[in-house]
Amino acid sequence: MFGVFKRWTSQKEIKKHSLDVKKVPEHIAIIMDGNGRWAKKRGLPRTAGHQKGVQVLKEICYACGDLGIKYLSVFAFSTENWERPVTEVNFLMNLFKKVFTEEIGELENENVRVQILGSRNNLDKGLLQVIDRLEKRTQNNDGLFLNVCLNYGGRAEIIEAVNKILSEDQIPEKIDEESLKEFLYTKDLPDVELMIRTSGEMRISNFFLYQSAYAELVFTPVLWPNFTKEDLKNALIEFQNRDRRFGRVEKR
Ligand code: FPP
Repeated sequence: MFGVFKRWTSQKEIKKHSLDVKKVPEHIAIIMDGNGRWAKKRGLPRTAGHQKGVQVLKEICYACGDLGIKYLSVFAFSTENWERPVTEVNFLMNLFKKVFTEEIGELENENVRVQILGSRNNLDKGLLQVIDRLEKRTQNNDGLFLNVCLNYGGRAEIIEAVNKILSEDQIPEKIDEESLKEFLYTKDLPDVELMIRTSGEMRISNFFLYQSAYAELVFTPVLWPNFTKEDLKNALIEFQNRDRRFGRVEKR
């Protein structure tokens, strides 16, 4: 299934770093932070950092596929990012449109299923059309499931879910974890097991508040444009060395 991804990380190389390929998390989420700082260090405009960030994302997708990680979710644009200078917001929106258009064929061929998660409000018509095409063209793929969180906020998602429930013809008398999940953008996805944030910031910034309840958090000082498959592997090794008890005494 991941035949094409094999060109990336060889199983031999993984073993050398003592990663147990049989115990990789099913779902990884990444907060891709540090693009602006990466650019500033080089005397470049912030947008250059975002551009480099796209290349890195592509490399990490291949690495995840090769490692057998089924779900990769990335935080590309938050509901708070609208507060950035309008030139940067416009640049990012155009970048999403360009990348989603240019990469559609490769994503389709590489058996990647792409979903864009977040509110569709405030996104321009052109971008919405590209998103629609990308999701439709890749919807039957079953290799890597890539979820790009765009115009996403964890609180907004929960509030939107509650409002959807309240607008149902028959409002349920009771809600439990499973029934609430049905109204989240991530209804088809398993819980996040590992959340990585780059750039040294140690917070989750309104990302996947519900989905990452039991996620292991790994913070790395590496800026996103410098993040490599080695850094990913190190995060996975760290994940595998954590004692995950889910509130119990014994390991599950
Ligand atoms: C955070 O770094 C990064 C973003 C808000 C944008 C992330 C977007 C990409 C990596 C491009 C992804 C592209 C596609 C097509 C999904 P920052 O700008 O906050 O960096 P700073 O904290 O150093 O200023």
